[in-house]
Amino acid sequence: MPASDASTSGKPRLTRKPLHMIVACSENRVIGRAGTLPWRIKEDLHYLFEMVKGGVVIEGRRVFDELKRPYPGTRTIVLSRDPARTFDGCDKAGDLDIALRMADAIDGFDTIWIGGGQRLYEEALPLIDRLFLTLVHTEVSDGDTFFPEWRKRFTKVVSSRRSTNGKLDYTFLVLEPE
Ligand SMILES: NC(=O)c1ccc[n+]([C@@H]2O[C@H](COP(=O)([O-])OP(=O)(O)OC[C@H]3O[C@@H](n4cnc5c(N)ncnc54)[C@H](OP(=O)(O)O)[C@@H]3O)[C@@H](O)[C@H]2O)c1
Repeated sequence: MPASDASTSGKPRLTRKPLHMIVACSENRVIGRAGTLPWRIKEDLHYLFEMVKGGVVIEGRRVFDELKRPYPGTRTIVLSRDPARTFDGCDKAGDLDIALRMADAIDGFDTIWIGGGQRLYEEALPLIDRLFLTLVHTEVSDGDTFFPEWRKRFTKVVSSRRSTNGKLDYTFLVLEPE
C-alpha cells in the first residue's frame, strides 16, 4: 500500500509496512531504572526477541547501549543526534521521520518495530497501528523512564495472555486503536 493510503483505522499511513510498538511496563507505566529494566522476566525477553525477528527495529541510543548489538534476525536503526556515534551492526538516523523512511525502504524485513525508550515511545505512540504491551502487574517506585498513557487510545484488545515467573505476574497484551 502506498504511504499516503488510509490504514484500517481510517488514518493516513505513514509507512507502507505495518508500524508496531513493543514494550514492557509496570502498572504505573515504568519501563526503566538506571539504564536497564526494573525486572528480569525471561519469558518476556524471549517474546520480544521472537516478535521483532524478521523486522526493522527503531530504538534510542540508550537502548542500544544496553544490548550493544542489533536484535538477532532484524535490521536495527538507532536514533542519535550525535554525529560522532556509530552503532555496531546497526544503521543510524538523526530523527524518527528519517528512520521510518529508511525502515520502509529496507527489502525483506516486513514490519517496523518501535523499541523505545521513553522519548521514542512518546513520539511514535500516535503513529502506530498495533501495540504489543507486556503489562507487569507491579508498581515500581524508583523508575526513571516511563511509557506514555496508552489506555484511552488503545482500547481494542486483539489478544491477552496472563503468565507468571513465580515472582511477578504479567499479561501479554496486543492492542489496537478502536
Ligand atoms: N521495558 C521496556 O520495554 C523498555 C524498552 C526500551 C527501553 N527500556 C528502558 O528505557 C531506558 C532507556 O530509555 P531512554 O528513554 O532513557 O533512552 P533512549 O530513548 O534509548 O535513548 C535516548 C537517546 O536516543 C536518541 N534519541 C531518542 N529519540 C530520538 C529522536 N526522536 N531523534 C533523535 N535522537 C533520538 C538520543 O540520543 P543522543 O543523545 O545520542 O542524541 C537520546 O538521548 C533503559 O532503562 C531501558 O532499560 C525499557
